[in-house]
Amino acid sequence: MARPLALGVLLSGGGTNLQALIDAIAARALDARIGVVVSNQAAAGGLARARTHGIPSVVVPHGDFPSRAAFDTRLVEVLHAHGVELVVLAGFMRLVTPVLLGAFPARVLNIHPALLPSFPGLHAERQALEHGARVTGVTVHFVDEHADHGPIILQIAVPILPDDDEERLHLRIQRQEHRAYAQAIQWIAEGRIRIDGRHVLVDGAPIDADATLASPGVSQRTSS
Ligand code: GAR
Repeated sequence: MARPLALGVLLSGGGTNLQALIDAIAARALDARIGVVVSNQAAAGGLARARTHGIPSVVVPHGDFPSRAAFDTRLVEVLHAHGVELVVLAGFMRLVTPVLLGAFPARVLNIHPALLPSFPGLHAERQALEHGARVTGVTVHFVDEHADHGPIILQIAVPILPDDDEERLHLRIQRQEHRAYAQAIQWIAEGRIRIDGRHVLVDGAPIDADATLASPGVSQRTSS
């Protein structure tokens, strides 16, 4: 069997996506190991999750560095020191620079709580609610120099309900994030992903051409 893919998880917050990866690895649904968890926030809840599971964790406070590039140089040192092969941003609220992207070409992933390119940036759920969108969701994508922008690997749509507030919508999106991230990383671990410009090809992944999500539901039938 191939050796597990070594992940470096970067986060700034509570780390439920980190936890989902830990759980997927434990359940043998993800052939990976987490080499290190890195946070720019000393108080990030994700660091405690790492410690609980015996995963090395490192705090790199961004305020200690004179530039984004200097901060990323330190991140790269930490990731290399822990043998990381794939960098996984999981609620990491910093823009990455060519320093990190150059050290891990096509090997940096992000997850975002919206169907990109809709609602990039902060408070994606709030943006979707304020816009009056009926459907939003989750995007897993490769990272480039622009926020929430690189080639898309996987999206899952989530309906917005009439009585949703930000928290309720966030919790439903989060459940789908936890499925989506482990799946996308497993495809990479299996060597099934190829990038062609903005397009990501996933070898052998099924797509239901007739699947739809209407919100509100639609009773009309198609004529064909
Ligand atoms: C997740 O919802 C993730 O999609 C979002 O931060 C949250 C982190 O949650 N990331 C972004 O908005 C990136 N633009 P977690 O700490 O519980 O994993």
